[in-house]
Amino acid sequence: MVNPLFGVAEPRDDGSCAIAAMEPGQIPAVGEILSRAFRDNALNRAVIASEDPERRLDANRHGMRALLPVAREFGRVLTASSDGALSGALLSSPPDRYPLPAPGWLPRLRCLVGQGWRVARRWGDVFDELHWLHPCEPHWYLATLGVDPDHQRRGVGTALLDTWLVEVDRDGLPAYLETDSAANLAFYGRAGFAVVNQIELLGVGVFCLERPPH
Ligand SMILES: CC(C)(COP(=O)(O)OP(=O)(O)OC[C@H]1O[C@@H](n2cnc3c(N)ncnc32)[C@H](O)[C@@H]1OP(=O)(O)O)[C@@H](O)C(=O)NCCC(=O)NCCS
Repeated sequence: MVNPLFGVAEPRDDGSCAIAAMEPGQIPAVGEILSRAFRDNALNRAVIASEDPERRLDANRHGMRALLPVAREFGRVLTASSDGALSGALLSSPPDRYPLPAPGWLPRLRCLVGQGWRVARRWGDVFDELHWLHPCEPHWYLATLGVDPDHQRRGVGTALLDTWLVEVDRDGLPAYLETDSAANLAFYGRAGFAVVNQIELLGVGVFCLERPPH
């Protein structure tokens, strides 16, 4: 059955973790969750080039503020709620929507000022490098998957990924993602992803993973 929120995937509620499409009013809360989730990731540290966790959190918030409205309008944003509290989110691009359009000039300007132009430029360089490694054939792209640190290792990430893959599999297309953490390879491996490329960006090893059509 087609669900108007997702396109095809059904919302999922296993009792402890409910997955649904992001509502516009959830953008600030989802931005906060993802900013916290990625605060200490290696690539985030290298791009923001600050040992101060608050500075990295702040830079992430500015990035999310610009990205999330575009991701909601042109891509798919799934949220997870655990016992009623927002706990994680997954941002993706359908095959005909990669790359997502750039935010408007005002959100971009706010992001540039908020993050600082050096950080914004380094993110731009990173995304340019990653762009060239994308598969040529149509694919679903998992742009971001993050779980609030207080909710990690309780199955939230798996619930988001599994719900998203239902829609990917209905399309019968490959899925693709990048991760800067070797610790995530087993997590994605269980869902059928395998490493197809590995590069170094700003001194950080980044893995490109692909999942064949199911
Ligand atoms: C990667 C990430 C999304 C995983 O989300 P998560 O909610 O922690 O994932 P899950 O709980 O479903 O599974 C993670 C691990 O916890 C284990 N686990 C799941 N439920 C569990 C439970 N109830 N108790 C203990 N462990 C559990 C899983 O077996 C899995 O084991 P693994 O480490 O061997 O892979 C999350 O850690 C995160 O946001 N990391 C920071 C950002 C990031 O790196 N994102 C991915 C980049 S693309």
